Amino acid sequence: MNPLISLAANAPKAELHLHVEGSFEPELMFEIAQRNGVKLPFATAEEIRAAYDFANLQEFLDIYYQGMSVLLHERDFYDLTMAYLRRAHEDNVIHAEIFFDPQGHTERGVDFADVVGGISRALDEARDQWGMSSRLILCFLRHLSEEDAFAALEQAVPHLDAIAGVGLDSSEVGHPPSKFARVFAKARDMGLHVVAHAGEEGPPDYVWEALDVLKVQRIDHGNRALEDAELVARLARDKTCLTVCPLSNLKLCVIDDMKHHPIKTMLEAGLAPCVNSDDPSYFGGYVNDNFAALIEALPLSRDDVAQLLRNSFAGSFLAPDEKAAALARLEDYLDGAP
Ligand code: ADE
Ligand code: ZN
Repeated sequence: MNPLISLAANAPKAELHLHVEGSFEPELMFEIAQRNGVKLPFATAEEIRAAYDFANLQEFLDIYYQGMSVLLHERDFYDLTMAYLRRAHEDNVIHAEIFFDPQGHTERGVDFADVVGGISRALDEARDQWGMSSRLILCFLRHLSEEDAFAALEQAVPHLDAIAGVGLDSSEVGHPPSKFARVFAKARDMGLHVVAHAGEEGPPDYVWEALDVLKVQRIDHGNRALEDAELVARLARDKTCLTVCPLSNLKLCVIDDMKHHPIKTMLEAGLAPCVNSDDPSYFGGYVNDNFAALIEALPLSRDDVAQLLRNSFAGSFLAPDEKAAALARLEDYLDGAP
């Protein structure tokens, strides 16, 4: 095996861009559908996987919302989250920041408390079993209204001990960050962390808006920021973390070939990308698969791989002492690795 692939695979790392509903493997989807008496429009797990052929973000989202519709009860959200955490633990993820889409559940009549309850029960168990730390981030669906996002934020109020931040996901083009300026202002006032998907399919202007209007602390994806030199200078100056998702970019045709992935260019421009899996069940790989795909396709150096790993902790919402401890653990690992 390429030694850099093993270096990355065995390294302690953080994952900062993971939609828990996007980690829903077809086998578990069938199991939960069956126990909930929900009928899926597919006969087998293989048939589901065969449908994962997307020309763009929207084609993926249509099937992603259909998949999550079998999740009804607290236990379903627990099982889904636990399955991801188990898999992430195998990839040496020691800290995970996890997105969830409550509006995709509450609009189907699922209780907000069951969604957060099931997810956070699994997060607590991962902390107790493996010492894995985590943060939970509530994503607003940007194709829905500002009013709907305010309602989701209101529902989060009794659960703020379990929710560390808010994000913005779903159909990007036509739904600029500024649509949610007031919701994000309120979330910031509530002391929540703020992030947003921007520059995945949307233009550099959306990245500017995420920074200047929503005042986000990280940009999820950010690929198209590279089209704007002034924006690149801003992101480099502030060392704003970009949570980059290589296999997602390939599956959603954001890039046409992994050889054209911009992560090396981002590093050379002084940006702060890290590597993430986004929706691993749908895009064909967890975080270590994403590292492997990049290392196979691009001329990444050992320093590049080390920097991507460092960026995952540096960009996290760990407390300063926890962040320093995680970074020190990574440096120890890198010093001792072949
Ligand atoms: N929801 C789940 N994955 C997403 C992505 N990559 N972009 C936007 N919304 C999403
Ligand atoms: Zn995403």
